[in-house]
Amino acid sequence: MTPLAELLADRIRRFGPITFADYMRECLYHPVHGYYSKVEAKRFADYYTSVDVHPIFARLLARQFAEMWESLGRPAEFVLVEAGAGVGRFASQVLDFCEAKLAAFYGALRYVAVERSAARREQATMHSKRHAAAGHFASSAELPAHIAAGCFFSNELVDALPVHRVVMDGGAMKEVFADFRDGKFVGVVAPLSTCAISEYFGVQGITLHEGQHAEAGLEACDWISEIGRRLERGYVLTIDYGHPAADLFDDHHMRGTLLAYQNHRASEDFYASPGQQDLTAHVNFTALELWGKRSRLETAGFTSQTAFLLALGQGNEFADLYDEGQSDAERTKARLQLKTLIHPEGMGERFQVLVQRKGVSGSQLTGLAGI
Ligand SMILES: C[S@@+](CC[C@H](N)C(=O)[O-])C[C@H]1O[C@@H](n2cnc3c(N)ncnc32)[C@H](O)[C@@H]1O
Repeated sequence: MTPLAELLADRIRRFGPITFADYMRECLYHPVHGYYSKVEAKRFADYYTSVDVHPIFARLLARQFAEMWESLGRPAEFVLVEAGAGVGRFASQVLDFCEAKLAAFYGALRYVAVERSAARREQATMHSKRHAAAGHFASSAELPAHIAAGCFFSNELVDALPVHRVVMDGGAMKEVFADFRDGKFVGVVAPLSTCAISEYFGVQGITLHEGQHAEAGLEACDWISEIGRRLERGYVLTIDYGHPAADLFDDHHMRGTLLAYQNHRASEDFYASPGQQDLTAHVNFTALELWGKRSRLETAGFTSQTAFLLALGQGNEFADLYDEGQSDAERTKARLQLKTLIHPEGMGERFQVLVQRKGVSGSQLTGLAGI
């Protein structure tokens, strides 16, 4: 039993089974024992993201953010909010690149790295000390209350937001709760904890097959609606793995998409070592679009990471890949790392890019040119 398992077992013994969303929230974000609350000691042991592959990911996105700024009429202040910024690796790569190559945009850029974990916020501030001193960077536990002009960006945040689990059982949708029986955690099926779950599937026109398990990402819906409310003019750019609803809930996904990750190994053993393994579910991009519309976010485009990064890099033949003074061997290594990001069998087709906008008219963004 991990320390968190003891706490959760005690809570369940006293108050009864908890929703899977509550269980997942505690496993990932418990202030002391949550997987993401700890310093990044185990980071590369369990997973890595596009940000860790090569700074070209951040550099191409920096060019896209600069184009967004242009499309908004070059406002004096462009607030770039990164939600789920982790230790701030992406933030420092974007800021360094803008300072060196996109000076006018850098002058307007105010980067806010939003991160739930206090330990990670501290690391992010260390990474971007110089930019913070110059007024271009701040870290925060909360999303800014109001953005006049800017962009909300996230990479692999939405898949880490807690989900409810459901199963179609005897023609009715039921919910899977976490219970503690005979010394271990188990899933138990009971009536839905909230009618928001039936609304979630109903609004998307989804009926599950008998016996099918699925996740309802209610927190992701709240998150995107809230962002839409806080953004006056600008964009929301979300990168993650997932599908539109019609694919996510089809008969290829009878067991749902929830997975536990430990030591780069995926399993369905969600109840093993709470707080010591990552839990993720594929993102439902249709839900992000529908709940975004509730706060006037319109979809500008949806494409694969492959198409998005290729469109952004083609203009200068990926010149941003190289740093001055690099050897041939280093350049070859950089090209291979780029391949990991864009190759369809690498991260390229697994990851999708959704761009939403509000109060912006007209021109298509370069990253979406291939659609
Ligand atoms: C899988 S990591 C991705 C980190 C980073 N974006 C990257 O690409 O390397 C997800 C991060 O989102 C953070 N997070 C989760 N929910 C959050 C929320 N509601 N607000 C801010 N950060 C959150 C977690 O603490 C974690 O650091």
